[in-house]
Amino acid sequence: MKRVPGCRIARMLRAQKRRHLSFHTPGHKRAGADITELSYSDALYAPCGVLAETERDIARILGADAAFLLTDGSTCGIYAVIFALRKGGVRRLAVPAHAHCSVFHACEALGVRPVCMRGERAAGIPLQPSEAEIARALSGADALLLTSPDYYGYFAPLAFARELCAAAGKPLAVDGAHGAHLHGTPQYAGNYAQLWVDGVHKSLPALTQGAVVSARGAWAERLREGVRYFRTTSPSYPILASVEYAVRYPRNEALERAAQSAKRALGALDNPDWSKLVVPFGAYADEAQRFLEAHGIYPEFNDGNYIMFYLSPVVRRRQLARLVRLAAKLPRAAVTGEDGASDGASDAGRVETVPLALAEGRVCARACGIFPPCVPVVLAGERVSAPQVRRLQRAVHTYGLCDGEMYVYAEDE
Ligand SMILES: Cc1ncc(COP(=O)(O)O)c(C=O)c1O
Repeated sequence: MKRVPGCRIARMLRAQKRRHLSFHTPGHKRAGADITELSYSDALYAPCGVLAETERDIARILGADAAFLLTDGSTCGIYAVIFALRKGGVRRLAVPAHAHCSVFHACEALGVRPVCMRGERAAGIPLQPSEAEIARALSGADALLLTSPDYYGYFAPLAFARELCAAAGKPLAVDGAHGAHLHGTPQYAGNYAQLWVDGVHKSLPALTQGAVVSARGAWAERLREGVRYFRTTSPSYPILASVEYAVRYPRNEALERAAQSAKRALGALDNPDWSKLVVPFGAYADEAQRFLEAHGIYPEFNDGNYIMFYLSPVVRRRQLARLVRLAAKLPRAAVTGEDGASDGASDAGRVETVPLALAEGRVCARACGIFPPCVPVVLAGERVSAPQVRRLQRAVHTYGLCDGEMYVYAEDE
């Protein structure tokens, strides 16, 4: 593991006394990094020691007025952001229809109405909402939330969104679950938003669930309150230490350049985020995944068209070269374009569940999709098409279904 200077939490954990007899949680009773909030380790609920100093350092690094360490993933950050928005008077929030499910869950739980930007699809992937669509949605909402970058490595039009929100006097929030590696670059969400989430564990070398949520201006105090509601009172110190390590981790520009060459060599999507290598295999996607896994290469996800390989600054160039060597040999088919969904005739009434095989033609009542990436295949209110049913049937993991059945509006009333 590369040495990264200045990591306060790791230093505090290393300084632990050798004779440490644990009469505290966790129940495994081993000394080491996995401790609880002790006299010397500060307390995340009301930090005033090493954790407070680390959060201040991270805020400085990310350009925020306040930043909060999270050990419960970006999901916790999304809840805290939407809580802060609600507290600041937001009742209707413009969001991309393909936002992560946590956005819709938080809106539902907190009484915020999502104003969906449906967005276009092209070559089988959901596109970022256009400027016109954002402007239209914001005119009927009190705030805007964008996802940037998305799972396919595309950025939302953040500069435009910032101008638009500033002119309308409405806040901009960004779900940067896939963008923590961008701080210090012009594409970083924190250059534009009042509130934003960094999914540190996804694209930087942090342990799973490590994240940061940040804010500036008056939003910082509202966010602090939200974080208090949703953050665990038993944070994992290994995760906390890893988040600090990862935020301080330097860029790997040689790898960033190698990733762009790998994209060209593999005919991957020409997306602007170096860390997402998205290769079109079309109908051969499952076969390609099986072949690569048989050679010890595990991608992030296979959406039935594309296989997505997630990079971070710790990937070695020779590892990337091995991926390119193996993936370049594999057969490809054209990606299947659109999924044929159309707006449903009704979006209200009694909800029932039907087996996927019977869902074609029905109006979906609850968004459902493939997990990961946890973005919907079918949106609530859409009339379900055969290709959508097939994508869900082929998926290894799904969300939004109930024991494999889809929520649809009843037709009998
Ligand atoms: C765009 C986006 N936002 C938020 C999340 C939630 O992140 P986490 O799994 O860290 O809670 C995800 C997870 O995949 C995501 O893709």
